[in-house]
Amino acid sequence: MFDGIKVLVTGCSGFLGPWLCERLVVAGAQVLGADLHFDLDSRIHDIDPEKLEPVFVDVENIEELAAAIEQSDVQFVFHLAAQSLVGEARKKPLETIATNVMGTANVLEVARQLHGTAKALRGVVVASSDKAYGAHDDLPYLESTPLQGRYPYDASKSCADLIAQSYAATYDLPIAIVRCGNLYGAGDLNWSRIVPGTFKHCFAGERPVIRSDGTLVRDYLYVEDAAEAFIIIGRALMAGEVERGEAFNVSGGEHLSVLEIVRKVQDAAGGEAAEPVIKDTAKFEIQKQYLSSQHLTNRLGWKPLVDLPRGLALASDWYRQRCKDLTP
Ligand SMILES: NC(=O)c1ccc[n+]([C@@H]2O[C@H](COP(=O)([O-])OP(=O)(O)OC[C@H]3O[C@@H](n4cnc5c(N)ncnc54)[C@H](O)[C@@H]3O)[C@@H](O)[C@H]2O)c1
Repeated sequence: MFDGIKVLVTGCSGFLGPWLCERLVVAGAQVLGADLHFDLDSRIHDIDPEKLEPVFVDVENIEELAAAIEQSDVQFVFHLAAQSLVGEARKKPLETIATNVMGTANVLEVARQLHGTAKALRGVVVASSDKAYGAHDDLPYLESTPLQGRYPYDASKSCADLIAQSYAATYDLPIAIVRCGNLYGAGDLNWSRIVPGTFKHCFAGERPVIRSDGTLVRDYLYVEDAAEAFIIIGRALMAGEVERGEAFNVSGGEHLSVLEIVRKVQDAAGGEAAEPVIKDTAKFEIQKQYLSSQHLTNRLGWKPLVDLPRGLALASDWYRQRCKDLTP
């Protein structure tokens, strides 16, 4: 379905981006990979440059974005670009809103302007998040659970998600929304996240550091399972099998406390497991969240293929090597 299709992936050089781009390349797509930075250690550099053209595009700049889409005859967009760190969002709410809310609105607006023309996009898949739901007592989250993010990152994702739904409904645009749990796997260079941070401490022979009190519960999803979900949803969107603005939860089916995931990362890293340092300084975070992806399974047949021990073992091999070689 993606064979010969020109696909724009925004935020391509982050954690999820390279995994998705790899799959698109295998599916025969010509990928335009847009980002603000191309970190030297990003897995994006492992992709055949004949199949992936990197471009510097700021999604906050609608002219730049529109030019990239129109000049390259982009037919399909996966919009991943975001300020994706909860702690950074709390320190920089305006920048987070500019990137996550306005960046998403800009992508959707370009799609609206092209709609009905010869350059109309065949689909836009927007990366929302489980954080878009905010806190709820009734778990797991279903797609019908109200979006009520309260803290800056969560609220930015609720807004972007609602705006995507609004554009789909109002302008009859082929838009799908993906709400994943916490991703983990090789290639995540965001060291403030619990899985990469813990691997880094383990391989440096240091005690892992937990910013919360260790009890926050999160849904963990292996990154390749997430990339596959994006591909399946994108294909179905192009085939007209997805409703306008339809949302899909993507869950690894495993939810654990921070302390539990740290122990599992330590197991995967091997060696002696040092006692974690519990800082208990993380405030303004949802206490407990996890998702049901039954809707995605029923509608499009997706299921997670990699369980936590296997996923962490794969990640461990990569981090063991990378923690030796990391660009200073
Ligand atoms: N990683 C997770 O656990 C997780 C969970 C649920 C949802 N998500 C969402 O999935 C998407 C991808 O997540 P990720 O973990 O790969 O994030 P990431 O932070 O690793 O990658 C995001 C990329 O977006 C780029 N970017 C930031 N601002 C930009 C701008 N103005 N213009 C262009 N590019 C810009 C960054 O440089 C980065 O390379 C994000 O939208 C995130 O919110 C992530």
